[in-house]
Formats: sequence, structure tokens, C-alpha cells
Amino acid sequence: MSKKTVLVSGGAGFIGSHVTVELSQAGYDVVIADNFSNCDMTCYDGVCQILGFKPALVEMDFCDKAAVADLFERYPIDAVIHFAAYKAVGESVADPLKYYRNNLASFVNLLEVAREKGCNVLFSSSATVYGEADSLPVTEQSPRKSATSPYGNTKQMCEDILRDSVAAYPSLKGIALRYFNPIGAHPSALIGELPRGVPNNLVPFITQTAIGKRECLSIFGNDYPTPDGTCLRDYIDIVDLARAHVCAVRRMLDGEMEEPYEIYNIGTGRPLSVLELVTTFEKVNNLKLNYKYAPRRDGDVVAIWADPSLALTKLGWKAERSTEETLASAWAWEKRLAEAAKMTE
Ligand code: WQD
Repeated sequence: MSKKTVLVSGGAGFIGSHVTVELSQAGYDVVIADNFSNCDMTCYDGVCQILGFKPALVEMDFCDKAAVADLFERYPIDAVIHFAAYKAVGESVADPLKYYRNNLASFVNLLEVAREKGCNVLFSSSATVYGEADSLPVTEQSPRKSATSPYGNTKQMCEDILRDSVAAYPSLKGIALRYFNPIGAHPSALIGELPRGVPNNLVPFITQTAIGKRECLSIFGNDYPTPDGTCLRDYIDIVDLARAHVCAVRRMLDGEMEEPYEIYNIGTGRPLSVLELVTTFEKVNNLKLNYKYAPRRDGDVVAIWADPSLALTKLGWKAERSTEETLASAWAWEKRLAEAAKMTE
């Protein structure tokens, strides 16, 4: 039987590159499409080293409808995983129209072409849609709260666009995966997170502090109503997250979907505080991190973690890597980046 082809939009980025590796190793052909607005070739080159071949790569922008149509003419695409979007929470507050135009127009373009081609769509959503949940852990039936940023709002709006599209167009089926907090790097240390400028997210800030690129980690708030006063999150290993996409694509392409639109929480189900994550990072990597407590960060929720049982039942997926393994992989990646930087000095 011929191999199925999966288009990974935004596939040169952090999550897209890890998904490309897992899909390829699971026997799918992958086409990466990326406009490189938020990444360079580092992760794509790493993917090629891991796989031993070069997945198809097309530089294009999903806001260009003609380019999207051309992509589907050039490749026999059976399913699409859509990552291509802007994702900086703070930037979205400062420049909302940039986020609404890019994140919504690109997705509508994709869906219009996917509908014509009868192609299934997997949307990269986020636990941010739950906001400050009334009860924890959150299930897929937990109510979505009003987004606290335009970025989070585009996630909710894209979920609704996908839901309404599959309801109206029989040729379309869709799955939304709600990620909790993706962290870590591929065990090869050839791909990982590459934030541009000062990292917004916790783990890249930790590793950059440990390597000496940042002076000190600020822990935003230690007066929350949690056991140690710092926020609780569900940190999901990036390779585990990538493997969830393989399970979801398989469900779509093997005709196993029970509804035209399905949603899954992709998390570990294990809440971890910021302080616990910091101390685990220090312990597993045998180092002392320079950190201090700072005021709370606007927009942060106190706690969120997943009930991931539906993904196990329906996708046959659950998180397998330990937090220790994940934080060791994040550190190995940061050290490799530092070595590479030295070589280019
Ligand atoms: C985690 C915790 C911070 C940095 C966001 C998006 C979400 C997804 C993941 C894209 C919080 C604390 C952080 C620092 C800190 N992104 N922190 N010092 O905000 O849970 O989720 O990223 O899809 O959609 O909302 O992740 O890593 O920014 O923060 O104390 O320097 O770490 O306050 O409690 P967040 P995060």
C-alpha cells in the first residue's frame, strides 16, 4: 500500500519538527511548509540528520491562498497538521490585528483548499482555551473561558471555525489537540526549542539561565494559593506530544473517527509547580540555578492540568517520558546550541 502523505504547516518550528520526525519514523511521507517568520533552518537541518533524508520542504505563507492551492496540486496530501501561526501571548496583546489576520486567514485558506481536496485537518490548539478552570483536572468537556489574550482567542476561534466547517462540509473531518505546556527536546539534541530573543516560556528561560545567556530566572509569583505558592502547570514532553499527533493522524486516515470533529487534551495529568520544575531541573542536571521570586505575571492562571484519559481511550496515547528525562533533554539541547555558537564565533 502506498505511503500516506501528511502536510505539516509550520513544520520547521519547535513542535512541527518533532512531529515531522515521529510521522516519518511511523511510515508517513511528510511535506513541511513554513514561511520561516519565526524560525530558521536549524530544526529542519536537525530533522534531516535524525532521519537520514530530507523531507520535502516548501517555503510559503498560508495567508497566500494561491500558494496553499499550489501546495495541494504539487503533493498528494492525505492529511494536514496545522501549526503555522503566531504564538507569543504578550505580542498578541500589543498587536492583535497581526494575530487575527495571520492566525485566522491562514487557517481559513487551508480549510477551503482541504475541503476541495477532501483532506482531514488536525489543528494545534492549546489548554489556554480553558482559562482559569472552575475544576481540575480539565476534561475536553470542561467549559472554555474567555481568552485572556488575542493569541488565546485565535485558538478558540480556530477551533470553532474547524467545528463549523466539518459540520457543514461532509468532505472535511477534523481533530483539535489541546496541548498543555510543551517542553524538552529530542533525545538526539539535534532539534529543540529555539525562542527568538528573550524567552517568554519557563523552560527555555531556565536553560538559558543555566548556560549563562540570562543572568537570573524570575519566578513570577510565589504567593498563589498552591502548595508552594507558585503556579501549577502540566508540562508535556515534546516527543510525547509529537507521538500524540501520529496517533491522531492514524485515527483520521484509518477511518476510525467516530465524530466529524474530535477534541483531545494532550497532557500528562500531573500538575507540577514552577518551583518543583526548577528544583527538578537542578537535581537531574546536577547544577544550581540562579533564580529569584518576582511579582506575578499578568494573564497567568494559578493552575491548569489535564485529564488525558480520552486520548488514551480513543487515540491509544499517553505521555511516557518522565519530567526528569524531559528536563535532561532540554539541558542537553541548550548545551548543544552553546557548542554550535562557539564553533561559529
Ligand atoms: C509557565 C509558568 C509562569 C517564565 C503559554 C501559553 C500556552 C503555550 C505554552 C503556546 C507560569 C512561569 C514563566 C519565566 C516564570 N504556548 N514563568 N518565569 O504561560 O503556562 O503557557 O506557553 O501554545 O498557550 O499560554 O507557559 O512557560 O510561559 O509559563 O515564573 O521566566 O512559568 O508564570 O506560571 P504558560 P510559560
